[in-house]
Amino acid sequence: GNAAPGQLQDSKIRGASDGAPTTHPALLAWVQQVAELTQPAAVYWVTGSDDENTVLTDELVEAGTLTRLNPETFPNSFAAFSDPKDVARVEEQTFICSEKKEDAGFTNNWMDPAQMRTKLDGLFAGSMRGRTMYVIPFVMGHLDAEDPKFGVEITDSAYVVASMRIMARIGTDVLRKMEELDNAFFVPALHSVGAPLAEGEADVAWPCNEEKWIVHFPEDRSIFSYGSGYGGNALLGKKCYALRIASVMARDEGWLAEHMLILKLTSPEKKDYYVSAAFPSACGKTNLALLDPTVEGWKVETLGDDITWLRFGHDGELRATNPEAGLFGVAPGTGWSTNPNAMRAIAKGNSIFTNVALTDDGGVWWEGMTDEVPAHLTDWLGNEWTPDSDTPAAHPNSRFCTPIDQIDMLAEEYHSPEGVPVSAILFGGRRKTTVPLVTQARDWTSGIFMGSTLSSETTAAAAGAVGVVRRDPMAMLPFMGYDAGDYLKHWITLSGKADQDKLPAIFLVNWFRRTADGGFAWPGFGENSRVLKWVIERLEGKADAVETPIGFVPTGDSIDLAGLDMTPADVEAAVHVDPAEWETELAGIDEWYARFGGSLPEELSAKLAEVKDRFAAA
Ligand code: PEP
Ligand code: NA
Ligand code: MN
Repeated sequence: GNAAPGQLQDSKIRGASDGAPTTHPALLAWVQQVAELTQPAAVYWVTGSDDENTVLTDELVEAGTLTRLNPETFPNSFAAFSDPKDVARVEEQTFICSEKKEDAGFTNNWMDPAQMRTKLDGLFAGSMRGRTMYVIPFVMGHLDAEDPKFGVEITDSAYVVASMRIMARIGTDVLRKMEELDNAFFVPALHSVGAPLAEGEADVAWPCNEEKWIVHFPEDRSIFSYGSGYGGNALLGKKCYALRIASVMARDEGWLAEHMLILKLTSPEKKDYYVSAAFPSACGKTNLALLDPTVEGWKVETLGDDITWLRFGHDGELRATNPEAGLFGVAPGTGWSTNPNAMRAIAKGNSIFTNVALTDDGGVWWEGMTDEVPAHLTDWLGNEWTPDSDTPAAHPNSRFCTPIDQIDMLAEEYHSPEGVPVSAILFGGRRKTTVPLVTQARDWTSGIFMGSTLSSETTAAAAGAVGVVRRDPMAMLPFMGYDAGDYLKHWITLSGKADQDKLPAIFLVNWFRRTADGGFAWPGFGENSRVLKWVIERLEGKADAVETPIGFVPTGDSIDLAGLDMTPADVEAAVHVDPAEWETELAGIDEWYARFGGSLPEELSAKLAEVKDRFAAA
């Protein structure tokens, strides 16, 4: 049944399919089954309309979940403050429940699917009592794609509805399209905050459960999320579908679902190039995607900042699309001086901020947003905050959630269901030593070798020891929906079927290398456009490089330094391949590859041996 928004509190339990706005049999049956299991007070089918959003956000303000921001500075925008224990993705509670354990691989948690189903049935039984159950039809990517990827999220969180509306295409249009396409297949994605309300029990601003489970059944293509209201755990179209489940669909259907940004570069000769780039979380993907180039004559536009789906097109080219409709960016470090393009998008409004600080005039603030720190704030925990406070005002993982079409530099091709042909793929990590500023792979398999060994040093921000090298293949460590070795094998075999002349060139980048005196070897941010220029000029056969055992690095004078206080010798230092450092690195890669057991593709062990031989011969 459909309760009108605003009357949700008064509506009675009805059969979920009575008066439902669809005839899709599998969807009706699933909604009915979930309603019987979770026992919500009402069922509401989300239409995606503006009026509906107004009603829902009004109700969230009334409930204390959202704080309305000053409409003059942040129109139609809201701040949410989570439970202090529900602030990030919970990787240790994230499971890939494939039929066979080896299909989940060593990078994923696994539990026997039958055992997990029993556990989930227990958790979800009655979990929506006293709450409204929202049904959100959504599509990741374009509704007019050749093979649109549908999902339906059922959730008991209106915050999730309002956020999914920003991050994906949702509602009635999607439902109609599913029906038109013979009642199309959809990924069922069930979410509950796990906080049922007893009769007359007062709600809290951010309901959640101590116990959290983020579960994927790759063979069924289904998702279950319990106990958390936070972004990556609860907005199930994003990491759960568009990466974990989509990576499995991609394996079976012959494409790739990747943790990548997409940008468009236009050269001074007005030639357009598209580059996708994979970096682990919190390594600056959003900043690179929205970069303001400092190098003369070059233009950058963006198509995406987090997730890229790659398919070989009819013409043999690798084409990229962004399946998302919004940005869910880390707020701290996003500022008027470091990322003005993101700030301008945010300033247009229509955004939901989570765990940021509030200014006294009804705005938001986070570390790095402005150079000048406000004299007084309310921190994310609701406490008074001044620059003398010894805790951050915003949680380090606080987020902005903003519609992507508010980005002024959004490339028009974002709107094209066919996507864009990719000329270069970058893999990047955060390393103080060893890894050069930029290295071009000799060939596709060498590039996959680079991606498979991608690494970052742990920082003080995360729990555990600082400076430990963590491997993160293609920046997909928390997001591969199947065995890591099979995933790398898929990259290799898929490309074997493509037009070899049209395969993108692959580059390894490291914006974070330090000099001997501890400073950054490269200024980063907008200056990274100089590295992008070198990348494109390599494709055009214009830029010089030096061959090293790991690939091609720039000569000192092949990077455009005009207007920068740097010399070619500084570039040489930033791209230096030190044999002693690489001895340690290759030993680390040996250990990493050993963890794959029998599933490491032999092409990659062969590449490792080849790199070792090249160092030995050098
Ligand atoms: C998230 O944590 O919700 C999220 C979007 O992931 P990431 O860490 O890649 O930003
Ligand atoms: Na939308
Ligand atoms: Mn991400």
